Amino acid sequence: MNVLVTGGAGYIGSHTCVELIETGHTPIVVDNLYNSSAKSLERVKEITGVSVKFYEGDVRDEALLNKIFDENEIGAVIHFAGLKAVGESVAKPLAYYDNNLVSTMVLARVMGNRGCKKIIFSSSATVYSGDNEMPLRENSKTGNCTNPYGWTKYMCEQILRDIAKADPDWSVVLLRYFNPVGAHKSGKIGEHPNGIPNNLMPFISQTAIGKRKQLSVFGNDYDTHDGTGVRDYIHVVDLAKGHVAAVNYMQDNKGESVFNLGTGTGYSVLDMVKAFETANGIPVPYVIAERRPGDLATCYADPTKSREVLGWVAEHDQTDMCRDTWNWQSQNPNGFDD
Ligand code: NAD
Ligand code: UFG
Repeated sequence: MNVLVTGGAGYIGSHTCVELIETGHTPIVVDNLYNSSAKSLERVKEITGVSVKFYEGDVRDEALLNKIFDENEIGAVIHFAGLKAVGESVAKPLAYYDNNLVSTMVLARVMGNRGCKKIIFSSSATVYSGDNEMPLRENSKTGNCTNPYGWTKYMCEQILRDIAKADPDWSVVLLRYFNPVGAHKSGKIGEHPNGIPNNLMPFISQTAIGKRKQLSVFGNDYDTHDGTGVRDYIHVVDLAKGHVAAVNYMQDNKGESVFNLGTGTGYSVLDMVKAFETANGIPVPYVIAERRPGDLATCYADPTKSREVLGWVAEHDQTDMCRDTWNWQSQNPNGFDD
């Protein structure tokens, strides 16, 4: 089936293109390259032997979307395109609401007009309210987001839920990702953050390669086994496979469904540092720093529903995540900029 992948040149999108191709689907990518490089799609071709059809442009551009639908028979859409930097969203709220909400609304309008009513949306564990018990289940409380990025995910979920309610022909799958890390085992595609990384794993790998002097561990006085923050890290290839499972699920299921994509296991910051050092034999210097505002002590998923309904489970372990992150980083010290 032809699957339109918005944001398909990005980190999770490019890995999903590989998994779609390897399961017999045909990804068609639209991306404005705001936070990515078209080289990622050249690498997808090196991995799979398949050249991905690529439209460079903005998902908010309705004329462009109409052109894509004119030129291709689209069976389903995976909507990755969006801005995702939490701190930046606090500084530039309008840019985040504009990009993330308008892209979703324009896309849904064109899809509805064209009778293509199957959409998978990239949501996030960030939509869960901070006062839930762990693990987080799909029916845990949402809202009380701590930043505009989180609110855009919360609002896009609501918009798509309302569309599914209004028209029973729609199939809307909301995937709530936990903490995506790692890279394809080939080392040809991976995460390429702009500037100083906000997220833990890219910061660890850039420290290991000498681009950063040391990692700052944000707080060691949380109520966790070693005092540092605990998260549910998930290998990006497992995440990508979760999208293929959702594409298949949508063939027979209408309405709105929501799934956690996580492993169900939480690791602390220091667990990840030690695992990275052990997996790769490279030291990661670190210092203990102040807590980062807005961080929770602990966040991990209950992935039972994804297993039972989608038939999906994460297969890569912590060592795979650390090894594949380093394999990508060491082969591509400057990401796609080389
Ligand atoms: P990414 O930045 O690598 O990929 C997003 C892609 O969308 C980029 O290639 C960017 O150029 C493109 N894009 C952004 N706005 C666009 C627009 N208006 N039109 C066309 N293209 C546009 O990020 P990622 O990590 O691959 O994340 C993909 C999705 O998953 C995002 O929606 C993100 O919010 C969500 N998500 C990511 C994480 C994470 O930690 N990586 C966690 C939860 C949810
Ligand atoms: N951390 C450090 N030092 C760093 C970076 C992070 O100690 O330099 C710690 C954080 O304090 C936290 C853990 O590492 O305890 C993970 O932090 P990340 O920034 O990697 O990830 P978050 O859990 O804060 O957030 C990520 C994405 C969000 C998404 C969320 C849930 O950035 O977009 O996962 O999916 F919403």
